[in-house]
Amino acid sequence: MMNKIHLENKKYWDAAAKLWAKGADSRGTWKRCSQEPHLVLCDKELEYLSDVCGKRVCVLGSGDNEVVFALAGLGSVVTSVDISQNQLDIAEERAKELGFSISFVQADVTDLSTFECGCFDVVYTGGHVVVWVTDLQTYYLEAVRILKPGGLLIVNEYHPFRRIWKESQDTLIVESSYFKRGPFEYDLSEDILGKKPGALKSYEFHWTVGDYISAVMKTDCHLLLIHEHGEEVADWEGAPLQGLPEFLLIIARKNVEQSAGADSEDVAAQL
Ligand SMILES: C[S@@+](CC[C@H](N)C(=O)[O-])C[C@H]1O[C@@H](n2cnc3c(N)ncnc32)[C@H](O)[C@@H]1O
Repeated sequence: MMNKIHLENKKYWDAAAKLWAKGADSRGTWKRCSQEPHLVLCDKELEYLSDVCGKRVCVLGSGDNEVVFALAGLGSVVTSVDISQNQLDIAEERAKELGFSISFVQADVTDLSTFECGCFDVVYTGGHVVVWVTDLQTYYLEAVRILKPGGLLIVNEYHPFRRIWKESQDTLIVESSYFKRGPFEYDLSEDILGKKPGALKSYEFHWTVGDYISAVMKTDCHLLLIHEHGEEVADWEGAPLQGLPEFLLIIARKNVEQSAGADSEDVAAQL
């Protein structure tokens, strides 16, 4: 049975899916990213994905599916996983329009039992997914379980330093301690972009940089890269965040033999 908090978040995303899709339409990126993957994948990600053609890739918490379409454009055999069936239905229509054959699977990232162990070459996740998830460790353990030995885990999440500020035009004011993980409970409407209050419950979690790295290190993987990147500030962020990193990228490889441990030659920490 689905965890109660995830069930509420699922209801929220099912209700918000239409307006989320409208936002994606106004950007228009989903139509371009299969030809221009750099619109949604940074240089480091593209470097690690350079041989992804023909490989089996799973995107967890696929949302607007822009990354899914970019990976399909790079020639991967992609599986798109999301908790919200409405998000998946919209993405499936879009995949048809783009001419891609993608497998869409409704599942919770903390329970990927629908997939066998070791069935993907790459598992990609990020772009505001983990903020909805109660159990970061189980999420990444599941992500790595479905990876083949030697497969790549790519986590590219909104940087935790950006989550703690009060809405303000020109001053940075801390609203909640960096160390307060939540859950943060909101009563919202389906107008996700307008942040309008309403009768839908949503629960968010503010994981720290240390939480992310520790969770990946506790899986059967070794770290290849930790990279903070991006400097853009969008209107919806509501605070003057210039100078703070936008994304935290973690890339790790599943060990070929159990407990091979970290390969220090491979680690390029750029914290
Ligand atoms: C903000 S989107 C992130 C994906 C993409 N970057 C985007 O902007 O659309 C969040 C997505 O995570 C999904 N999601 C939330 N909780 C989830 C869970 N426990 N398991 C799988 N997907 C989940 C939501 O349904 C939503 O589609």
